[in-house]
Amino acid sequence: MPAHPLDPLLAEEIRAAAAVMRAGFPADGRIRFALLHLEEPPKEAVNRHASGDPVDRRVHATLLNRGDGSVQEMTVSLNDGAIVSRRELHGVQPPILMEEFEVIERLVKSNDEWIQALHRRGVTDLGLVQVDPWSSGDFPIEGVDPGHRIVRAASYVRLSPTDNGYAKPIENVLAIVDLNNEKVLKVFDGEVVPIPSESGNYDADSQESLRTDLRPLDIIQPDGPGFTIEGSLVQWQRWSVRVSMHPTDGLVLHQVAYEDDGRHRPVMYRASLSEMIVPYGDATEAFHWRNAFDAGEYGIGRNTGSLSLGCDCLGEIRYIDAAFADDNGDPYVLRNAICLHEEDYSILWKHWDLHSGSNEVRRSRRLVISSIATLGNYEYAFYWYFYLDGHIEFEIKLTGILQTRAIPLEAEDPWGAKIAPQLSGVNHQHIFNMRLDLAVDGDKNSVVEVDTVAYPLDEANPHLNAFGAVEKVLASESEAQRTIDPLRSRYWKVFNPHKLNRLGKPVAYKLVPAASSVLLASADSRIAVRARFAEKHLWVTPFHPEELHAAGDYPNQSSGEGGLPCWTSGNRNLVDTDIVLWHTFGVSHVPRPEDWPIMPVESIGFQLVPVGFFDRNPSLDVPPPLAACHSERVCEDSVG
Ligand code: NI
Repeated sequence: MPAHPLDPLLAEEIRAAAAVMRAGFPADGRIRFALLHLEEPPKEAVNRHASGDPVDRRVHATLLNRGDGSVQEMTVSLNDGAIVSRRELHGVQPPILMEEFEVIERLVKSNDEWIQALHRRGVTDLGLVQVDPWSSGDFPIEGVDPGHRIVRAASYVRLSPTDNGYAKPIENVLAIVDLNNEKVLKVFDGEVVPIPSESGNYDADSQESLRTDLRPLDIIQPDGPGFTIEGSLVQWQRWSVRVSMHPTDGLVLHQVAYEDDGRHRPVMYRASLSEMIVPYGDATEAFHWRNAFDAGEYGIGRNTGSLSLGCDCLGEIRYIDAAFADDNGDPYVLRNAICLHEEDYSILWKHWDLHSGSNEVRRSRRLVISSIATLGNYEYAFYWYFYLDGHIEFEIKLTGILQTRAIPLEAEDPWGAKIAPQLSGVNHQHIFNMRLDLAVDGDKNSVVEVDTVAYPLDEANPHLNAFGAVEKVLASESEAQRTIDPLRSRYWKVFNPHKLNRLGKPVAYKLVPAASSVLLASADSRIAVRARFAEKHLWVTPFHPEELHAAGDYPNQSSGEGGLPCWTSGNRNLVDTDIVLWHTFGVSHVPRPEDWPIMPVESIGFQLVPVGFFDRNPSLDVPPPLAACHSERVCEDSVG
């Protein structure tokens, strides 16, 4: 039995929970486990938990009956071996199952209309054709009942099993598949565009030669890493954090805290990706509906990969495995799902004193907690960084392969950019939303928006040079739907009015956003209606344990019923209460030739920075790494 209420589910716990759930259905049913995860105990219980206390273990699952399409949520108590809650859901589609990927390929490849469409394009070797299943959104499909469980399939030519299919899109052929009834409902067979001939292979064997002038760069920690892992608890320097993997959210942090002179000071109760969307900006029949919700429709955790030493992470690495349930509720363990290591990060602080010649330099280093998910053509690598000066950073590195379309030889693509002969990379965005349940020195917090602005001409500002920070309290949910303003250096500060620093000011952390666009699709577009979260960089809500996903728990085929717009319509109070920040950010891709055939990493993220949380720079006690980095060395010819 795990020792802490937030310790991740063990394989045997998954097996036990699934057995209890399965017993609640007829044995001959086509019951599938679309989701299964630890049901987190109430926050108060977790925070109250002391070492050695008994733990209450509950497992939550969403079950899809592939026979009749019905959906149920169930919670099982592992302590009692019994179902504690069960409810039928109507009008929702759980995420796409792993087995459905195979179903789609089998159905499409045996459909006559689809085969004819490929023959029209000269594709006869169907065995190697790559079929990509796409969530379909809520676009009405003529002659198809909205209640059906639908995906659309796009396809690509591969000349060998390892060929990069995105180099050879089979343009304007799509199949619409009913997953529960296992039927191809429609085949769209539009204008024939020749299949591009150039290879897009990026593997080492496909290159004419490899450079030979990279010299070894080794990272060595002879005494081992500076962090410890005990169950889900990771400790490094003054930081402590619990780390786990959720099938939908991917990497999840809990109970981020800083040990400050013997005081255990919480900063954040829970942090996770709440949703991410990839809307395409192409108006054609082949693309206009492509709006993947990669978390809610596919699952970031379920699509996380196993990391390998020296490839994904470098240095003195430790890994954490993750246990998941497969479609049948059987457990499997993903080895090396989460990577932990320390990184040198240039200078932490430095000053050379002109008068004495003394020189003080400290090296910065950070703890890195990371995982990498592959969603179809794209990789998303998630990195949390913890620093010696009390700040935290989150970064998403995007790489992988662009979504492509074939274009006629001399043509340009109005909806994308030519990246190779006869090939266009389609314009798109990647928009992420992070749910950040901050707890700055305790749960009761408030939030202000801070702009740095020039002061107007008046008696106090006769030279017109004065400027400063102006704070505005975001007192309710309707006031707290905000966008960035880089020209005013806008940030959002979460403070605890009950805890003051030595200067008499409330202790605080600020969310420092990066410059990034919100959703570009019109407010009236289907994607905007389904993903309202993507229209604002910041939303703030009072904590509610069931509000975890910005677009609702079941975005697959949704019409935008759940999530932030729904919850915030109550305009709840945000002052001096337990608040949650929802931060939207992303990248807008108009592809470059250099993004082909594989995209070099592009990154986006944000920082959480202490503002009066500490009484001064908390990293003065970081020792100089070498004698030369501090003031014992005074130069003889120093300016005096
Ligand atoms: Ni992209």
